[in-house]
Amino acid sequence: MTVNFQAPKGTRDFYPSDMAVRRYIEDIWRSVSVRHGFQEVDGPTFESLDLYKVKSGDEIISQLFSFVDRGERDLALRPEFTPTLARMVAQKAAGLPRPIKWFSIPRCYRAEQPQKGRLREFIQWNVDFIGDASERADRECLAVCVDALLEFGLTASDIRIGWNHRELFTKALCSTFVAPQRISNAYYILDRLQKYDVQARHALYQQQQCTELERENFDAIAAAVNSPQLLAAWMNSWPADVRDSINAFEQRLADKGLAEICRFDLSVVRGLAYYTGFVFEVIDAQGQNRAIAGGGRYDKLIEMFGGPAMPAVGFGMGDVVLEILLRQRNKLPANLMPPADVFVINALEDSAAADQLIAQLRRSQWNSEHSKIIRRGLNVQTSYRSTRNIGKLLQEASGCGARVAVILAAEEINRGMMKLKNLVDRTETDVAVPDVLNRIHALLTDSQAMV
Ligand code: HAM
Repeated sequence: MTVNFQAPKGTRDFYPSDMAVRRYIEDIWRSVSVRHGFQEVDGPTFESLDLYKVKSGDEIISQLFSFVDRGERDLALRPEFTPTLARMVAQKAAGLPRPIKWFSIPRCYRAEQPQKGRLREFIQWNVDFIGDASERADRECLAVCVDALLEFGLTASDIRIGWNHRELFTKALCSTFVAPQRISNAYYILDRLQKYDVQARHALYQQQQCTELERENFDAIAAAVNSPQLLAAWMNSWPADVRDSINAFEQRLADKGLAEICRFDLSVVRGLAYYTGFVFEVIDAQGQNRAIAGGGRYDKLIEMFGGPAMPAVGFGMGDVVLEILLRQRNKLPANLMPPADVFVINALEDSAAADQLIAQLRRSQWNSEHSKIIRRGLNVQTSYRSTRNIGKLLQEASGCGARVAVILAAEEINRGMMKLKNLVDRTETDVAVPDVLNRIHALLTDSQAMV
């Protein structure tokens, strides 16, 4: 009897070509983080259930994969990294240098209804700046996010960053139409305004028991989100200090060269309950996809987890929508599979000499003139087929992207030589066995294949 198993709903298998895309994305995340002075951290894949109940918000709690372990402890797979990070900082706050600039690339789990851009298991790049309450830290996080998006080849025509400020916006809402005790309902609605059509929005108003005044104003906000004129008109009713603060922040973003990409956006309020101030979301400029990244300031969370009062700001970017967007905009490099450097072709009866050469090349260390760096170990591949047909094996060598093929055939070996074939210009030379290693290194350097 055979049983067919499928990967669980909302998860992905990463075959080699999928894995190459994942590595490409993660490598850019990692190098941009390091360039901006962030250090990599990680934590456990599962935590106490209570860690998420404290301050993540109802939506995320409803999406937890939770379980009870053998010791009767309530645990949950991490739906996000921020609570783990806050716990880690709270635990060792006294001994950590300030400010703390950390990044992580965890797998996260949310029992969402799988749909385009949203899965149950995904990878999320987190960048967090802790211990600095200034707007400079907010802007630095934004700059890291923008740099990564630019490095992926995305531009202002592909993405937009909508930002808002929870504290200022709360002030504006309460001074116009929201009663202070209704503020969390207001945020619940605002978080969904752009995602819902008119019908769903009205059902939402009903569910949240909105007054007529609230309905009118939420409709006005929904209309103002994409209209600078309506937005300006609506903002005129706000307290002057709120308007001034928002204008000043906008100006500072412009000074950092971010004006083209960043826009004040009323619909960005963020679903997570721990945000306290500046918040932002990266969205597809053509409005086709779900949010690519989101984050903001969460100044109270570390204190809430038993640490000192420590302001913090950060964001998370998932791999799922990012990959969809990169594919849609043709921004994924064509071949991400790491190419071989050398392909060893064995046309001898015995494989001992070939095996020895392969081991030597894989361990070899050399100084690349071209890149001025020391390379350790070449990527060496060989054939596992039984054929000794050199033409066919050369095709296999080209297929795996190798720049150089080494051919071990009786005719050359008997003369103490091996044949080196440059697979870029198709030239070949016989080289004395003791010189083979150096000649391969030289050929690779010349072909500029080694960076
Ligand atoms: P979030 O908005 O819940 O924020 O998630 C950030 C990003 O993670 C989303 O924009 C999306 O790209 C990705 N993401 C979230 N859920 C899924 C899913 N089910 N499938 C695929 N991708 C998903 C947070 O998680 C905050 N903890 C971010 C943060 C870090 N704030 C401060 N520091």
